[in-house]
Amino acid sequence: MKIAFFDAKDYDRPAFDKFAARENIQIKYFDTRLGQDTAALARGFDGVCIFVNDDLSAPVAEKLYALGVRVVALRCAGYNNVDLSACFGKLHVVRVPAYSPYAVAEHTMALLLTSVRRIHKAYNRTREFNFSLSGLVGSDLHGKTVGVVGTGKIGRIFIEICRGFGMNVLAFDKFPAKGTNFDYVPLDELLARSDVISLHCPLTEETFHLIGADAIQKCKKGVVILNTSRGALIDAEALLAGIKERKVGAACLDVYEEESDLFFRDFSGHIVGDDTLARLLSMPNVIVTSHQAFLTEEALGNIAETTIENLAAFRDGKGLENELCYRCNRVEDCRRARAEKCF
Ligand code: NAI
Repeated sequence: MKIAFFDAKDYDRPAFDKFAARENIQIKYFDTRLGQDTAALARGFDGVCIFVNDDLSAPVAEKLYALGVRVVALRCAGYNNVDLSACFGKLHVVRVPAYSPYAVAEHTMALLLTSVRRIHKAYNRTREFNFSLSGLVGSDLHGKTVGVVGTGKIGRIFIEICRGFGMNVLAFDKFPAKGTNFDYVPLDELLARSDVISLHCPLTEETFHLIGADAIQKCKKGVVILNTSRGALIDAEALLAGIKERKVGAACLDVYEEESDLFFRDFSGHIVGDDTLARLLSMPNVIVTSHQAFLTEEALGNIAETTIENLAAFRDGKGLENELCYRCNRVEDCRRARAEKCF
């Protein structure tokens, strides 16, 4: 089996080489992203492997199918970059539903601690032999209230981490779990009572700009906002306004609404035209990491292992437990539920 691997980064290769060798799958790594102009690179391959910012829109799906590609393996959980209807009947689409919720939850706490203890400032200072403590006064997490929006795999691990710090926990979820050891409250109450708000829900029409001007006005003065979920959960302009009027005490963002043209690439020698991001980065109380929360050895290993297992199952004619199609969760006779391929 031959796989064209798009948007390859140096950190992808070790784990993929290891698991591909085990399943006798050949991978050709392409640095470029999949899109209309690059789909032709997949000629002669059985399948392609893509990531969050590759483009699998309808025209690209058509091109891949015409080239003889029959399976697309997403090496991520999200699939908002894939036209599942266009793929149906032509390309089987498989993904990695979970790889390391610990990686994301731990990164969220790393961002919070960095922010409230001013580690980012201290790091820069001491490298220049500036040992002054002025401006580095932080705040304890112990006794503070954290509001967690989305109590799935990542949100719950983050809650456990926060409990370890002696924080009080409030939670909001559209589908609250039963038998939890934390309290669910309405979103407005969570906004009003939380010192720290952390977003761990998916991006949907309903959650788009969940944190906008109205929500920010309902928050406590000085609230710390954490987003390691999806950029468009926050209206970045409203966040900037909240920071400027001193309502928002700090923001830690691993994701950004307009990240797809920027994140995962080095623009250090360029003039970046995104004024909103530039203004956010200029704020002393904003920390941005570039969609890095998943990036641990453990998560990369799990991603590679599941992706290669998905591809090997397709090659061997087995059911695809991680297949996606536009009918998933919408039809009663879901074939995947019967451990069959979606078409
Ligand atoms: P999950 O599916 O286990 O949990 C999501 C939770 O959000 C569920 O409990 C669900 O009921 C809840 N939810 C759904 N709609 C909601 C709404 N309208 N309001 C409030 N809650 C709602 O997902 P998991 O694995 O915990 O991932 C959470 C998010 O983390 C993902 O959606 C993804 O966007 C993000 N993520 C970010 C990564 C990074 O590197 N920064 C890596 C992996 C995931």
